Amino acid sequence: MSAAPRVSPAPPARRARVTLSSLAEKKALGEPAVMVTAYDYPSAQVAEAAGVDVVLVGDSAAMTVLGYPSTVPVSVDEMLMLAGAARRGLDTPLLVGDLPFGSYEISDEQAIATAQRFVKEAGCDAVKLERGGTSVDRARAIVGSGIPVMGHVGLTPQTATALGGYRSQGRTAERGLEVADDALALEEAGCFALVFEAIPSELTELLMPRIRIPVIGIGAGPAVDGQVLVFHDLLGIYDGHAARFVKRYADVRTAMIDGVADYASDVRERRYPAPEHGYTMAPDEADRVREALEAV
Ligand code: KIV
Repeated sequence: MSAAPRVSPAPPARRARVTLSSLAEKKALGEPAVMVTAYDYPSAQVAEAAGVDVVLVGDSAAMTVLGYPSTVPVSVDEMLMLAGAARRGLDTPLLVGDLPFGSYEISDEQAIATAQRFVKEAGCDAVKLERGGTSVDRARAIVGSGIPVMGHVGLTPQTATALGGYRSQGRTAERGLEVADDALALEEAGCFALVFEAIPSELTELLMPRIRIPVIGIGAGPAVDGQVLVFHDLLGIYDGHAARFVKRYADVRTAMIDGVADYASDVRERRYPAPEHGYTMAPDEADRVREALEAV
């Protein structure tokens, strides 16, 4: 019986780079966009392999990666180091860098200078900033300097204290209209996309027909153009409090603890390393070493 000819599997189709226009096209086609945060080379590689559309180096890294109690303390230099590492793990998704608190609010010049560092030093395709109000002018200035901007309204963690804490926003008509004003102003300022965080699904439904740019939701219900989750939340890596909108798709933290605990007990019980984990030496070479050591 002759062997069937071997057919090599076709290489996986190379995905086209995600661009601002391909994101806008997704919205027009009604195809949901997938965004996830990533903060380093391995998490970016995971996002790339999973085929997500947009990677955000979120300032949530302050809490998930750097262990700060909120997003407020993280510095531009810390964010740039994380964003640069994520860049090196990515090819296809659009890479958005989060401008940290205090790095863009003072003036248009400050906002442009910080956004430029994210593009020049970390290789980001775009930046994100939080809030309406004065952030609308900053967004306009950054867009005017040639850098795409994603806006972020609703729960804006950088100013959570002023919002009454980490709680959903826009639940009264007055606050709902403020969120609407912020979103529309950021769109008018030239943002290419918006994040809606922690607002009622009803408010999202009322706003969506009025917004032409892609809206990515996190705790904003299903009516948006795409969803974003924090990498450590969705994979169950982070041990902190998880917001109501988080869905856990894996329990990586438990797997990691189990792995390290197994390693520790193997070391303590002398099960690791086994012979296959070591290197060998030809017997005559070992004899020569022994003789030389004995001669000392
Ligand atoms: O910092 C972050 O991770 C974010 C997302 C939650 C949108 O801003």
